[in-house]
Amino acid sequence: MGKITIAIDGYSSTGKSTIAKRLAAALNYIYVDTGAMYRAVTLFALNSGLVSDKGDVDVEALIDKLSGIHLKFVPNKKTGRSDMFLNDENVEQEIRSMRVSAFVSPVAAIKEVREKLVKIQQEMGKDKGIVMDGRDIGTVVFPDAELKLFMTASPETRAARRYKELLEKGEEVTYAEVLKNVEERDRIDSTRTISPLTKAKDAIEFDNSDMGLEEQFERIYDFSQRVIAKYV
Ligand code: DC
Repeated sequence: MGKITIAIDGYSSTGKSTIAKRLAAALNYIYVDTGAMYRAVTLFALNSGLVSDKGDVDVEALIDKLSGIHLKFVPNKKTGRSDMFLNDENVEQEIRSMRVSAFVSPVAAIKEVREKLVKIQQEMGKDKGIVMDGRDIGTVVFPDAELKLFMTASPETRAARRYKELLEKGEEVTYAEVLKNVEERDRIDSTRTISPLTKAKDAIEFDNSDMGLEEQFERIYDFSQRVIAKYV
């Protein structure tokens, strides 16, 4: 059967990665979480002292150091997923922290960072058979993807989901902090000049504020089967 490219974009905490991961497993496709890549570059900036106490990112210094950033997805047998490695160190846990979430949007707005990561992403998907999630996958990374989804949900629904996840991981945060971070990231991600988060013209919008995971998955899976059938 012919393989296609599936691009899943949308706001943070819309369940993109959960759906993308399941879809990839069901179709036997590769799954790539591009947010993890932007998060790893952000962690690198934080650990290299490139973020001031006031929260300003030293853009010039980060651009200078970009060639020294090596990212790799390594399958984890225990979780059945891939872990993000930054310069040969497993950073999967650390990149999901609020510390990284707080700075990832300004880092992801840097043109040179995006150019480097988009190139890697295009290389990973050159043979199709891939489900990639992010913000610019259907618009910039794979504008010719055969199936594009754009996921949305209200900021409150998304913050509640994220808050629950962080509590389960033992992070000490308040719902108000999480909601503020979700709204702030939406604002920066959608208004940045380079590759802002927008729905591709040919993407199918999916509002899952009031929809359970099973129902979402079933619908998206059925839909993907119909699209794939056209490319056999
Ligand atoms: O999907 P996520 O929440 O883990 O992504 C983290 C941040 O990275 C998000 O605030 C925006 C940025 N991002 C991006 O700009 N482009 C992508 N393709 C993926 C993520």
